Amino acid sequence: MSRTLHAVHQVSRPTGLPTAENFAQVTEEIPALADGTALVENLYLSVDPYMRQEMDEGGWELNAPLEGRALGRVVESRTPALTVGELVAHRQAWRTHAVVAPDTVRRLPDLPGVPLSAHLSVLGGTGLSAYVGLTRIARLQPGEDLFVSAAAGGVGSAAGQLARLLGARRVVGSAGSAAKVRHLTERLGYDAAFDHHDAPVTELLRAAAPDGVDVYLDNVGGDHLEAAIDALRDRGRVAWCGAIAQYNSTQPPAAPRNLFDVVGKSLRLEGFLVRDHLDAQQELYAFLAPHIRSGRVVPDETVREGFDQVVGAFLGLFRGENTGKMIVKLGG
Ligand SMILES: NC(=O)c1ccc[n+]([C@@H]2O[C@H](COP(=O)([O-])OP(=O)(O)OC[C@H]3O[C@@H](n4cnc5c(N)ncnc54)[C@H](OP(=O)(O)O)[C@@H]3O)[C@@H](O)[C@H]2O)c1
Repeated sequence: MSRTLHAVHQVSRPTGLPTAENFAQVTEEIPALADGTALVENLYLSVDPYMRQEMDEGGWELNAPLEGRALGRVVESRTPALTVGELVAHRQAWRTHAVVAPDTVRRLPDLPGVPLSAHLSVLGGTGLSAYVGLTRIARLQPGEDLFVSAAAGGVGSAAGQLARLLGARRVVGSAGSAAKVRHLTERLGYDAAFDHHDAPVTELLRAAAPDGVDVYLDNVGGDHLEAAIDALRDRGRVAWCGAIAQYNSTQPPAAPRNLFDVVGKSLRLEGFLVRDHLDAQQELYAFLAPHIRSGRVVPDETVREGFDQVVGAFLGLFRGENTGKMIVKLGG
């Protein structure tokens, strides 16, 4: 085994869209293991939209190891709590190896028939965000109609499939290309979908959901939230998960301009952070693993191979280059 590790550090802060020049790859010696630690070889790394906010002042430290989700295998251990060969999830991402203490990792359950990468996509924080947004925040009921934005992304691809299992009636999604729109309706259980570039989102949503919706899972914010407020029925609910339309913006958002309709329609708009709902993880395993095994639920993923793909994969999130969860696979 090589005694060096490769890592990506952030070296400068972006204004607006980040670029590859904001990052640098570094090579370091793997330190000798202290008692009570183990060495993990990373197998899959996560790139996520929230990392854009980490790039700003107050977030990630410059020229330092980064935080993020990773899956790896224990390859050396000086603690009885971690056995060589065990698969773990941890938060020392964007590097090939990590020295971990047992209380900083989560052992992955053995779920036969479930691919390892699913622990970053539909069974990971991404799928958990969709599950929590639908079940705990919006409290989606059987027979209700749902709109999901960025529906062909990580959270959105999980949300459409979960909504079907939860008994939603009509599920509508927005995405950024004709191919993604087809993917939503042909593969992910969406009843209708539109390309948000084609016209103002309010018009597109009115056409796709002419009778309105009960619930909106918001991944985009801005014009999508405005369209959803327009389409929601009285006493509808918004589970506000993210606002990717504004993460790179240097201007305050121009939409939603109809926020006061939240009052007129008695809507409930509630934001949430998945990290406050980690107690739902076991429930998600129990609910979804049998459906993944049976093939009814697909862990929808775009997998880039090789450590040198990390920065490009992250930047690709803001150009719509992923269908499903964007993941980087390391090793053979
Ligand atoms: N609250 C939480 O705890 C939590 C947890 C996880 C994720 N999130 C949030 O949930 C959202 C989805 O996360 P994810 O991990 O599943 O990422 P994702 O949807 O896979 O994110 C990338 C996708 O967002 C879309 N997008 C990018 N820029 C856009 C823009 N300016 N306007 C409209 N769409 C744009 C693109 O899809 P198209 O090609 O379809 O436009 C792109 O493929 C993000 O806002 C994220 O921050 C929140």
